[in-house]
Amino acid sequence: MKIIVTKSYDEMSKAAADVFEKEIRNNPELVLGLATGSTPVGTYRELVRRHLENGLDFSRTKSFNLDEYVGLSGDNPNSYRHFMDEHLFNHINIERENTHVPDGLTENPKEYGKKYDQMILESGGIGIQLLGIGSNGHIAFNEPDEELPVGTGLVELSEQTIADNARFFQSAEHVPTQAISMGMGSILKAGKIILLASGEGKAEVISELLNRGKVTSRIPATFLLLHPDVTLVCDEEAYSEVNR
Ligand code: F6R
Repeated sequence: MKIIVTKSYDEMSKAAADVFEKEIRNNPELVLGLATGSTPVGTYRELVRRHLENGLDFSRTKSFNLDEYVGLSGDNPNSYRHFMDEHLFNHINIERENTHVPDGLTENPKEYGKKYDQMILESGGIGIQLLGIGSNGHIAFNEPDEELPVGTGLVELSEQTIADNARFFQSAEHVPTQAISMGMGSILKAGKIILLASGEGKAEVISELLNRGKVTSRIPATFLLLHPDVTLVCDEEAYSEVNR
């Protein structure tokens, strides 16, 4: 795993945007794997700026998001589709039909998950995947457990994740308890992975990830250690426990 440690959140965001910009300029038809949550907001802001000021062109790119809450339609302000529209898609020249966020209202998550993975394959596969990390080590909504899903499908959110994400909702009771999430196998098929981490709240899990030297489904992020091209881009706070 390559590691870039930056002084601040803004520098982390710029470093991640640098990699995305380079990859998109090299391959204008790049398939982007995208994440939501607080961490990638600055990266999206930076990509929007580069689109508006430097002509970074998304017109031929496609995107696939990692996950969506079950029960939320795309126009619900707490949905990840809404998040992506607000933070990125509405401000760049990506074609709307080329953006994919799992459907939180699907009636058959199993079939839907298979189709989602198939669509990714048919698009040529994800060229670059942006990831955040849960404080419990989750990647997308693959939560710590004895087993991890390989493909995209229905998952249960852990109590820790519900508590962490309650800040976006009225209260923890309003956080959906299930999601449609890309599986670890779907994520590990990406050509290149950028893992973001920012702030003290991620310090312990980043230290676990880098110091453990083993994979465990109890820390799903450790499966990223098996991928040949992962770059961790994190700020000093998130990195602060690594050498303790
Ligand atoms: C979001 C996702 C999650 C987040 C993680 C960290 O699409 O899949 O795994 O990346 O929960 O969230 P933040 O960035 O809010 O700390």
